[in-house]
Amino acid sequence: MLSLREKAPSFRETQIYIYIYRERERERERMATFFSITAILGIVLLAVTSAVNSCPPSDRAALLAFKAALQEPYLGIFNSWTGIDCCHNWYGVSCDPMTRRVADITLRGESEDPIFEKAHRAGYMTGYISPAICKLTRLSSIIIADWKGISGTIPPCITSLPFLRIFDLIGNKISGEIPSDIGRLSRLTVLNLADNYISGTIPRSLTNLSSLMHLDLRNNRISGTLPRNFGKLRMLSRALLSRNQLNGEIPSSISYIYRLSDLDLSLNQLSGEIPASLGKMAVLATLNLDGNKISGSIPPSLIDSTISILNLSRNGIEGVIPDVFGPKSYFMVMDLSYNSLRGQLPKTTSLASFIGHLDVSHNHLCGPIPVGSPFDHLEASSFVYNDCLCGKPLSAC
Ligand SMILES: *[C@@H]1O[C@H](CO)[C@@H](O)[C@H](O)[C@H]1NC(C)=O
Ligand SMILES: *[C@@H]1O[C@H](CO)[C@@H](O)[C@H](O)[C@H]1NC(C)=O
Repeated sequence: MLSLREKAPSFRETQIYIYIYRERERERERMATFFSITAILGIVLLAVTSAVNSCPPSDRAALLAFKAALQEPYLGIFNSWTGIDCCHNWYGVSCDPMTRRVADITLRGESEDPIFEKAHRAGYMTGYISPAICKLTRLSSIIIADWKGISGTIPPCITSLPFLRIFDLIGNKISGEIPSDIGRLSRLTVLNLADNYISGTIPRSLTNLSSLMHLDLRNNRISGTLPRNFGKLRMLSRALLSRNQLNGEIPSSISYIYRLSDLDLSLNQLSGEIPASLGKMAVLATLNLDGNKISGSIPPSLIDSTISILNLSRNGIEGVIPDVFGPKSYFMVMDLSYNSLRGQLPKTTSLASFIGHLDVSHNHLCGPIPVGSPFDHLEASSFVYNDCLCGKPLSAC
């Protein structure tokens, strides 16, 4: 019995990893074939395991109530939601092989499923997410993504689903606030509410999500400050909060998140200085703080760090560009444009391993542009609108 029980989490873990891989693939379009093979294997496994189970009538009733609140006019995905056994051939529904309860709802409006190819279009759905979904108390994942038209709010009862690991509503028209007791979801690894109309503040309980690996709240209307104890989210690898109305300072506790590789706080109203400790993080690769109201100077630690994509554009950053480039400096992107930087371009840039795209335009820099790498491949647009920068590719000094 125990060994059977132990199997379930590892199966779930596999699904979560597939999920995170898929997300990264979407954005980075890397290693596409490998991951889709993994995903197909997962789906085949699901199909095989769910075929032998049938769902309890109460789960079936909850699914039908969930369906009744949604309208999907073009693909007919809910046409398959008929018959007694909701674990068998109900589109997007799968059950736990052990408990025979509904474990996953996976409805993606953008997918390569044949149903979409046949209709020659992406999905579109209206309606709302019925609180009846909370009666499916063994749910492990809820993915209702990219349907563009689903409105209403997040049912607050969602926080009473003790087994929920993935909650993904990206790309709809969901409004209202994130449930204040979201922190109860102790198993949650993925919270993706990006591209909706979510308002209100980040609930203080969010930092209690001790399993959270992937947080994506981009492109909503979330206001208020980032919780000071954000660094409690020890499992987090991606924190994407771009395009909201967040204000206040960047909590320095973020630097305690050992696994954090992507931090995107761009296009908010954040103020204060950049915590120097961000440059000391073990695996931080992307730091996007562009389009805020950040002041102070660039911490030297950011220059000789693991960061390879650094966008600090369109802030109120002052001082000089720290002259501390070294072999650890490897920048695919370093965008410092539209700030108030002064002084010269640092001489140590020639010691950097790589600087691909550099933009220091629209500042108050002065003096000769250093000759040689990494400046020899850059165009004038990287340097224009400064006080007195000169030399190639600008005019001679
Ligand atoms: C976070 O969890 C702790 C321990 O379970 C609890 O005491 C605290 O009230 C929670 N915080 C919030 C803001 O919900
Ligand atoms: C950096 O951020 C600015 C402002 O949001 C944006 O316009 C620019 O494209 C970004 N730079 C790069 C290289 O992505």
